[in-house]
Order: sequence, then structure tokens, then C-alpha cells
Amino acid sequence: MKIHRVKSAGQGQALAAELFAGISDESPDSPVGLATGGTMSGVYSALATDGFCPKFSDAFALDEYQGISPASENSYANELTRKFTEPLNFQGKIHVPGQGDYAGQQGPKQFEKTITKLGPLSVQLLGIGVNGHIAFNEPGSSFYSKTRVVELHQETIKSNLVYFDGPASMPTHAVTQGLSTIKQASKLLLLVLGEAKEFALSKAINYPDESTPLAALLDHPGLELITDLNY
Ligand code: PGA
Repeated sequence: MKIHRVKSAGQGQALAAELFAGISDESPDSPVGLATGGTMSGVYSALATDGFCPKFSDAFALDEYQGISPASENSYANELTRKFTEPLNFQGKIHVPGQGDYAGQQGPKQFEKTITKLGPLSVQLLGIGVNGHIAFNEPGSSFYSKTRVVELHQETIKSNLVYFDGPASMPTHAVTQGLSTIKQASKLLLLVLGEAKEFALSKAINYPDESTPLAALLDHPGLELITDLNY
């Protein structure tokens, strides 16, 4: 694993934007992998500030709430439209699990088929949850998992509730790429920024087992960690 130590979250997001742009520009025929959440918002803002023009025509999202309308402010399809497609004037397609062609029972299988057909991704952006989840692969997820519907853990529901009107509107399930799906990307750019993520990172590195989903990715030859933590 290559480690980039940075002094602040902003510096880490700017570096991730630079690396993402460089890698994706080198392989314009390969799709990329996008992520959502607070950490990634800063990466997309940095790409827009840098005037980045995507050369790739397909991007794959990591996950989505189960059954949510893409028109909902809280859907990841909507978040990527607002934070990636619109500011970067991206003319290609973002494939989101659980949405469009990937909705319904056969959706996860169809998503896997498409990612295999168009992949491998040149680069996958990754964050980590406070509880250690990678995409919505919660602690305990199989290292061999594929795209599937999962039940969210209580810690995840608690962290993400702030974005919803209340517990009644917060989804309890999501569709997520599996750990083995994520691992097919040629490069993994993992951002672990802020003290709240320290426990998740140090647990994965010091006690790598299925209780820490990041442990599944540690032997990936293209893994690059961007962190402001001394773990
Ligand atoms: P965050 O989310 O960037 O909003 O902290 C990361 C995640 O939950 O994977």
C-alpha cells in the first residue's frame, strides 16, 4: 500500500482530485469508480476548481439506498448528479446500483455484468465509515462479496440520519458493490481523513479480519491511502 500523508482534509481531497484526474486521463477508455459522502464532496469541488474535464464515458457508483427515488435529495444518484455530473459537465453515464437498469431483483446481477463488461475501472475512489464500512459493506461482510442488497448497521443509520427528516424516512437497506467487486479496479484511492476515522483505520491495519472490511483490500497492489492520521 502506498501512503500519502497530508496535513489536512482539504489537502487530502486536493491530492485525491489530482491523482484521480491523472489516472483517469491516462486510460480514457476505462470507466472510473465514484463514491459519495462528505469526504468525496471536497474531492469533486477540487476537480471542478481545477477545471477537470472527464475523458472517460462511464462511471460506476459504489452504492445506493434501497428503493429510494433518484429524484430524492438523499439518493446517491442525485448526489452524484449535483456534485459530479453538473459541475464537471460530464456527458457520459453514471451506473448506480439499484437504479434504472439495475433496479429489482436481477439488478445486482445486471450491475455486476456491466461492470465486468466495461471494466476494469482505472481508478475507484473510496472513503470509509466511522464503523469501518467500505461502500455499504458493513463490518462482517464477506471479503468475496459481490453487488447485493444489505441491511445497514445501527451505527451507519445513526451517522446518516442527519441527512434525512427523521428515522421514519431513513432507509434500513442499501444496494452495494461487494468487496470483491471493488477489488477489481486497477487503482483504489482510499481517503481516510479526520480523527473520527482513526479507530476504523488502525483496526483494519492492526487486526485485519472480517470485522474490518478494509482488510479485504489491503493486499491490492494498486491501493493508495491518503490520510491525515497517525495511526
Ligand atoms: P463520509 O462517509 O465521507 O461522509 O465520512 C464515508 C463513508 O461512510 O463511507
